[in-house]
Amino acid sequence: MVKKILIVSVFIALAICLVSAPVIMAEMPSADPVSLWSYITKDSPYSKWSYWPDHQGMQLSRAPHGTLHRVYVNDRALNSAGPPLQYGSIEVMENYQGESEELNNITVMYKAYGYNPLDGDWYWAKYTPDGKAISHGKPRSCIGCHGTRAKNDFVVVHEFK
Ligand code: HEC
Repeated sequence: MVKKILIVSVFIALAICLVSAPVIMAEMPSADPVSLWSYITKDSPYSKWSYWPDHQGMQLSRAPHGTLHRVYVNDRALNSAGPPLQYGSIEVMENYQGESEELNNITVMYKAYGYNPLDGDWYWAKYTPDGKAISHGKPRSCIGCHGTRAKNDFVVVHEFK
């Protein structure tokens, strides 16, 4: 009897694992510019996300990201013990240009399972403020420069302790 209960509970545990893994991934957008934009503006608006504790609010930028920026992170990024960050992590950066502090473009890093294992599985995108993709995918420029921070999983503005 005990053995039977044990086998049944192991079976149930396995079934829950098998069902929940795809469900977790299914919540996340696919790695393409339209799905990602729709996710960060409608399904889970990034303006309601958090800042890294060590990088809050408006900050000075270095080239090529304009003059000022704000970086928002979703819960998966924030709760990552990493590096590496958990799959499903997203960082959205608003890039402002000039003295008028005009929103110039929005750059995004999205940790997508199996997307680009050679370079940390990050999907990169740069959008106009109204969501048109200027560049996306695995641009050499993004990866080349952020690659100097490969040990920090390509993240520049946050130091993992
Ligand atoms: C020449 C170097 C360089 C290139 C090229 C570059 N970045 Fe960055 N990126 C930085 C730096 C430096 C920061 C830190 C913030 C700042 O100073 O602007 C940053 C920060 C970011 C952040 C905030 C998250 C973080 O901490 O890393 C995102 C998102 C981002 N970049 C996306 C991109 C995308 C997408 C591209 C390509 C279209 C790109 N970057 C190209 C240097 C670069």
